[in-house]
Amino acid sequence: MQSTPNINQFIPDTLTKLAYQGLQESKKIFSVAHNTIVDSITDIIVPERNGKTKPLSPATLAKLQERVQILQEIDWQDAQAGVYPSEVLFDNFWGDFFRYYPEVWLDLPKIWSRFQNKEYQKFDPEIEREGYPSYYLQNFHYQTDGYLSDLSANLYDLQVEILFNGSADAMRRRILKPLKQGLQAFSDIPTSQIRVLDVACGTGRTLRMIRAALPKANLFGTDLSPAYLRKANELLSEIPGELPQLLQGNGENLPYTDNYFHAITSVFLFHELPPNARQQVIEECYRMLQPGGTLVICDSMQVSDSPDFQTMMDNFSMMFHEPYYKHYTIDNIEERLAKAGFVDIRTKNHFVSKYWVAKK
Ligand SMILES: C[S@@+](CC[C@H](N)C(=O)[O-])C[C@H]1O[C@@H](n2cnc3c(N)ncnc32)[C@H](O)[C@@H]1O
Repeated sequence: MQSTPNINQFIPDTLTKLAYQGLQESKKIFSVAHNTIVDSITDIIVPERNGKTKPLSPATLAKLQERVQILQEIDWQDAQAGVYPSEVLFDNFWGDFFRYYPEVWLDLPKIWSRFQNKEYQKFDPEIEREGYPSYYLQNFHYQTDGYLSDLSANLYDLQVEILFNGSADAMRRRILKPLKQGLQAFSDIPTSQIRVLDVACGTGRTLRMIRAALPKANLFGTDLSPAYLRKANELLSEIPGELPQLLQGNGENLPYTDNYFHAITSVFLFHELPPNARQQVIEECYRMLQPGGTLVICDSMQVSDSPDFQTMMDNFSMMFHEPYYKHYTIDNIEERLAKAGFVDIRTKNHFVSKYWVAKK
């Protein structure tokens, strides 16, 4: 007998998908409008900032549009397949959005001034700068106080969301499927004994997603910025379940014992590291992973996998202060992973991001 589709399931799913697509579309429209207005004002005030960038061809824009649609469809399909609950698709920082959006505008004149005066390492004198690696003491993206103030931590998620036209979380969520697949190697262990670390957890958005996908696992997050960890603590405390353990530390040298974690993730870190630090973080992840454990890295696309987007990558390093990005785009991360001892190294691309999945 032919099975009939369950209408009660079909209608909510269709509505939920429409709601998700509507949310993504509105975030995109908002971001494009914001970026267009900011670019026009920037052209008047600091014409040299956008002056050297090249416009994207209609073919590149069409390809980007296609990639973002595919990303959304995969995001939806992974939720449908149970990789994470579909509520996660709607997890947005509305409170912070309304509270801090005006600050994004108020911060712009300071960004322009730093750009004009080539001030890449400008910090409020009150900010403690002892003990950080020198490569870290930068105004990445020209942002005020780099990663070292509460203001920066409060604006960060909003700025990233606008930069990626509302797709930043959908890109972060692409680590969840390979993470859960990797953890199947430990299916004989109760989930409550599984340990997952997010290196450079920032404000904790990735940890929020991992918590939704793995409600019982022990989660750990580490970052160099005390201000971002404070923000992560605030955002992670909102969700039920055990609070992930947060620790301030350099991903190159962390105080966890060898073989401690069953999986490690890291999102949008590697393009902000100089080459030797990239290698060191990978080796540290290898040391901390159990044999059979999985490392999942998400970061920007690279020239080798996305040659059609080379202009975008060039524009990015010209418009934002990203001193290590250019080298990152041509770095061979697979080779670095293999050098550290990782095996079964796989890569994948989604929209403007790239993923590495590797086993110890
Ligand atoms: C672009 S943000 C990404 C944050 C977060 N993973 C996300 O998905 O938004 C880069 C983060 O890396 C952190 N970071 C940079 N260098 C680091 C290092 N050597 N060790 C630990 N964290 C570092 C910064 O403090 C910042 O929070």
